[in-house]
Amino acid sequence: MDHFDYRDGELHAEDVPLRRIAQEHGTPCFVYSRATLERHYRAFDDALAGLPHRVCYAVKANSNLAVLDVLARLGSSFDIVSGGELARLQALDVAGDRIVFSGVGKSRPEIEAALEHRVLALNVESLAELERVAEVAAAQGVQAPVSLRINPDVDAKTHPYIATGLKHNKFGIAMEEALAAYRRAAELPALRLVGMDCHIGSQLTELGPYADALQRLLTLWDTLAAEGFALQHLDLGGGLGIRYRDEEPPAPAAWGEVLRRSLAGRELEVLIEPGRAIAGHAGLLLTRVEYLKPTAEKNFAIVDAAMTELMRPTLYQAWHDILPVRPREEAGQNWDIVGPVCESGDWLGRDRALALAPGDLLAVRAAGAYAAVMSSHYNTRPRVAELLVDGAQVHLAREREPLADIWRRERPLPA
Ligand code: LLP
Repeated sequence: MDHFDYRDGELHAEDVPLRRIAQEHGTPCFVYSRATLERHYRAFDDALAGLPHRVCYAVKANSNLAVLDVLARLGSSFDIVSGGELARLQALDVAGDRIVFSGVGKSRPEIEAALEHRVLALNVESLAELERVAEVAAAQGVQAPVSLRINPDVDAKTHPYIATGLKHNKFGIAMEEALAAYRRAAELPALRLVGMDCHIGSQLTELGPYADALQRLLTLWDTLAAEGFALQHLDLGGGLGIRYRDEEPPAPAAWGEVLRRSLAGRELEVLIEPGRAIAGHAGLLLTRVEYLKPTAEKNFAIVDAAMTELMRPTLYQAWHDILPVRPREEAGQNWDIVGPVCESGDWLGRDRALALAPGDLLAVRAAGAYAAVMSSHYNTRPRVAELLVDGAQVHLAREREPLADIWRRERPLPA
């Protein structure tokens, strides 16, 4: 599953002891494993073997340039949701035909930049956006490659904040309006219809919702084909879950099997947009215990990482495994692992049985996705360092942010 293991009683990232990383780079920091990223990317690529396909890593999960570079070198394509993510890929010289652009609120400059970079497809999420994309393309004198994101109205059975495929969610074009939207798109000469898209949610632990969404999309696909539409690709989005605690999400191969069965004999390219399942277990958050504070009610272990680095526990009540870098012999007791930020919601884990002493290093697992990318400067805390381990090598993928950089663009009043 990943390449973070105990060797000689100490947790390592690939061949590097985490203790050494903490000494050399300080804590808190994120530690990523190249071998794990590669393994997970390949699992998806292999899962779709035999079908014309493209794995479009969802950049939002972890957009560090080193992480993107690892995947770009493997031949990955990418799913982006902002002009900023596009600019990151441009910084790595990733060609436009390896990029699909999703998101409900693309601005004019973002659409312009995407067309100039000749992206493979804009995943359009509303009629209003369709008209805007056509206008921008016409002004540039080009045809915009467009795929419509359909909201299939299926229950992904995940946390409500990360479910996206239900009618009451803001995402996609409702199934009942889809046909009219395709017909409208066909009337606009500045658009070239290339595909159909959906994304039903994140951290899915069952295949049923995928199979349902796929069937609904294929019905629409066939109706369109009967009307003479010739789409090239079907993009099924991302969302495959990972095991944070005791979830048992299907493996990419099982997902691939569903796609293979449903798509057999069809002439189309299938696209998928996994983020979490590639990056999640490829990273951990390394933190040090500052203080132990047993109270009458609870035992608190105050660590140097906080909700500013990992917002998932407080935002989604998410559970992340927390491991001692060097386990102690003594029996443990229950600790709430909390950060220094001035919010009672600043916790990383609750009631964790651990034997702890001040100065101990802890590793918060599955922090490769939706962790560093969601960090904030709250309490004027600088962005932490990110390290990418590759065998015995440690690559500094992001320097710890110097404090003064935080307020560099702020201005006190004139004298
Ligand atoms: N494609 C689209 C259009 C998406 O909106 C997303 C995620 C993905 C692909 C990738 O989904 P994944 O394979 O990573 O599940 N911050 C939340 C997750 C938000 C996901 C948003 N969309 C969390 O920490 O759980």
